[in-house]
Amino acid sequence: MQSLQDKASEWSGVAAADAFAIDDVNIFQSLGGTPQPFVDLSTNFYNRVYEDEEEWFREIFAGSKKEDAIQNQYEFLIQRMGGPPLFSQRRGHPALIGRHRPFLVTHRAAERWLHHMRQALDTTASIDEDSKTKMMNFFRHTAYFLVAGNEMTRQQGQGVACKHATSKPAE
Ligand code: HEM
Repeated sequence: MQSLQDKASEWSGVAAADAFAIDDVNIFQSLGGTPQPFVDLSTNFYNRVYEDEEEWFREIFAGSKKEDAIQNQYEFLIQRMGGPPLFSQRRGHPALIGRHRPFLVTHRAAERWLHHMRQALDTTASIDEDSKTKMMNFFRHTAYFLVAGNEMTRQQGQGVACKHATSKPAE
């Protein structure tokens, strides 16, 4: 049976090695070692999501306050890209598949999410081009990992340890 990782690579068009090139350097440090670039990116991203002209996509986020969604995302990104473990300290293990279980994470939703993230990255001046390329590969692979995980949990109801959430997956 094809693993979630394999599905993520096939559907996203991003090889695992490229997705996890975010671990080749400490991106948090190379962006100056402060939360600001990540706060900028997540604010930019969620401003787009909450104003999306596509209502079906905007509705997926209707249960969360924008400010909370921004903070959840930038704390996760800071932690995953080499900074302090802000997300886990406040929210616990990232467990991304489990946390996305309430939402319909379809191929179409992944493409819309990635569309906003591409635009957010393109308009965030505090992130350099090399980091943007690495981050986008990670985002594409993770988005399709979540699509595959969403399909699986809807069928089976399992939890999965993964490298998308942490370089040291939980037991
Ligand atoms: C949270 C949808 C992809 C990381 C959320 C939330 C929604 C959502 C509706 C709740 C907002 C909140 O209260 O924080 C989606 C959809 C995706 C997607 C439709 C399309 C594939 C991703 C990707 C990542 C990610 C690619 C990571 C690279 C997170 C994190 C949270 C979150 C860290 C916060 C979880 C928490 O604090 O409980 N997502 N997401 N998501 N998402 Fe996604």
